[in-house]
Amino acid sequence: MEVRVQNVRKEFDRFPALHDVSLDIASGELIALLGPSGSGKTTLLRLIAGLERPTAGKIFFGNEDASEKTVQERNIGFVFQHYALFRHMTILENVSFGLEVRPRATRPPKAEIRRRARELLDLVQLSGLEKRYPSQLSGGQRQRVALARALAIEPRVLLLDEPFGALDAQVRRELRKWLREIHDRTGHTTVFVTHDQEEALELADRLCVMSQGKIEQVGTPDTVYDTPQSPFVFGFIGESSALPVTIENGDIRLEGRSIGVSTSEPNGSAQLYFRPHDIELIESDAALSGHVVTSRRVGGTRRVELDIGGAHRVEIDLPFDHPAAERSQIVFRPRRWTLFPDR
Ligand SMILES: Nc1ncnc2c1ncn2[C@@H]1O[C@H](COP(=O)(O)OP(=O)(O)O)[C@@H](O)[C@H]1O
Ligand SMILES: [Mg+2]
Repeated sequence: MEVRVQNVRKEFDRFPALHDVSLDIASGELIALLGPSGSGKTTLLRLIAGLERPTAGKIFFGNEDASEKTVQERNIGFVFQHYALFRHMTILENVSFGLEVRPRATRPPKAEIRRRARELLDLVQLSGLEKRYPSQLSGGQRQRVALARALAIEPRVLLLDEPFGALDAQVRRELRKWLREIHDRTGHTTVFVTHDQEEALELADRLCVMSQGKIEQVGTPDTVYDTPQSPFVFGFIGESSALPVTIENGDIRLEGRSIGVSTSEPNGSAQLYFRPHDIELIESDAALSGHVVTSRRVGGTRRVELDIGGAHRVEIDLPFDHPAAERSQIVFRPRRWTLFPDR
């Protein structure tokens, strides 16, 4: 099911948690809402679910205006970070629950409900644990039950709010891969909230990067990483350094000195962003030059922090066998960079 969020605003007691947010989610895609804590991810998810009403704007499911519809009418599957399973019910009963409570007219026969619940437990690789209770499962297993339960009602849209947030790093990584596989098999339209960029980059077809109640950028993980559209996105996704530069007739300067790269941007001040691996060592006076502050080998490269002119710190990657002795001087220039003009 395609979902369209159209000019949605949400205020809590006049505090705007979302400002004029628009987002088209394609049928069958897995989109990640990514942003720091407080950026409005959960609020957007709850609006799509129907747990909150927008202050302004509309939400469409396909061509149907769902803005005034209830959670049940929207037929949504949910998994939250701490989605408590029913403690007094077995795993099989938990997964069956959503179908058991349907009105008689749309409720499948009992045997059919059990069959479907078993099939879903098989899908989430928990066959054989039907008779256990939630307390007898690990955290990762419980979240897989929660997902099976969400899928049991054959939802039109699946909403996951930091579902692996409470689990340890290794279990998270396993579940991430597993969720991607399940998604590829079932093809549900899925909205996944996370503040973990690695999780979003690895899992999602597209990212929706949020900050302070606004969408900063929407695109594939590659597009967002390679062409960030704002300083926020450049700084939030991947590693980067920023320098305050001026542009003078195409020449990019730091504190009056040319850094050896040029631009067609108009004269003025700007922030120059680049990633640690997007640099080259050169021998020239027109370049950036700094002193090594810290240097550490990370696998196949050496990550070096440089102090430039006593006022700026940047990080660059060098070959791991580069000596990069403390306080030694390194001369380089960015190979790829982005300028964000100051307003
Ligand atoms: N029910 C609420 N009442 C008042 N403020 C809220 C409520 N829910 C969220 N907020 C505020 O809205 C902003 C966005 O919150 P939220 O959507 O939970 O962010 P995220 O999920 O990205 O951490 C925050 O400043 C938060 O304090
Ligand atoms: Mg949240």
